Amino acid sequence: TALRAFVHALPKVELHVHLVGSASLPTVLELARRRPSAGVPTEPSALAEFFTFRDFPHFLRNYLAVTSLVRDARDIHTLVTGLAADLAAQNARYAEVTVTPYNHVLDGMPADDLLTGLASGRAAARADHGVELAWCFDIPGEKGVVAGRETVVFALRERPEGLVSFGLGGPEVGVGRAQFAPFFTAAREAGLHSVPHAGETTGPATVWSAVHDLGAERIGHGVGAHTDPALMEYLALQRIPLEVCPTSNIRTGQFASIAAHPVRRLLDHGVLVTLNTDDPPMFGATLDGEYVAVAEALGLTAAEIALFAKNAVDASFLPSADKTVLV
Ligand code: HPA
Ligand code: ZN
Repeated sequence: TALRAFVHALPKVELHVHLVGSASLPTVLELARRRPSAGVPTEPSALAEFFTFRDFPHFLRNYLAVTSLVRDARDIHTLVTGLAADLAAQNARYAEVTVTPYNHVLDGMPADDLLTGLASGRAAARADHGVELAWCFDIPGEKGVVAGRETVVFALRERPEGLVSFGLGGPEVGVGRAQFAPFFTAAREAGLHSVPHAGETTGPATVWSAVHDLGAERIGHGVGAHTDPALMEYLALQRIPLEVCPTSNIRTGQFASIAAHPVRRLLDHGVLVTLNTDDPPMFGATLDGEYVAVAEALGLTAAEIALFAKNAVDASFLPSADKTVLV
């Protein structure tokens, strides 16, 4: 369609995608066949069912099973270059990619393997796909403050090239944001940007906590803010963008459909909304697809659709000189 062609032609950036969650279905099958004991299906139809989620906890369980398949630097390189190829195919030239070092090391990967795979993958993404990648190292919240401490120590000790931000993922229910405050303070003092997940599966209180306790400069999801006009006004005035991932929200059961999704309400309150995929093959999402779905549901004009792409460039942690080249 004309809409799809227009969306595709827009130069886009992706600000919320998890490295493990970006593994293509063929890659997941290949990794699963190498390690059948991990419980990840080795046949396409069973994998499709494995990626049909009842709720967020079910998603996270299966996501972590896929994480456990990733063993060494070569696997990391495969994930990074696969993501770069997928981004290039969406006409996305830049992405900030969430990596969760603690989970990989917990699953037995030497930290050096992770760093080596990220570096070689990033170089190949640039050389072979013309895609620039930056990293967000994030805390797996379900693993508690130990994971928080280890993640920030690792991030600040290693400081790999391309590391721009520090995050917090995993469940929100029962995992208060504030307990991770010291680690975000340390990360911010070292010059990393604060980008926690908040308001994905819970409401405005979590988003407020991300802002007040973790100094959030951008928020993963954040859609839970939609019931709190004062919070939406705050996010708009402070220019704290949201990394909205509509298909992810639907596939984890937060909203019934794109029509029922609060993206319109957030926009109407002046919040800076960006569109992202989160874990694309697991959710059957693509970056172009997110733009098309929102454009259709909201009846947007071409100028309004293009604004999403521009918002994402503005909301990125690219140096300002690079931002002007991209828009
Ligand atoms: N939220 C929290 N944790 C995650 C997600 C997410 O969307 N994807 C992978 N880990
Ligand atoms: Zn996420």
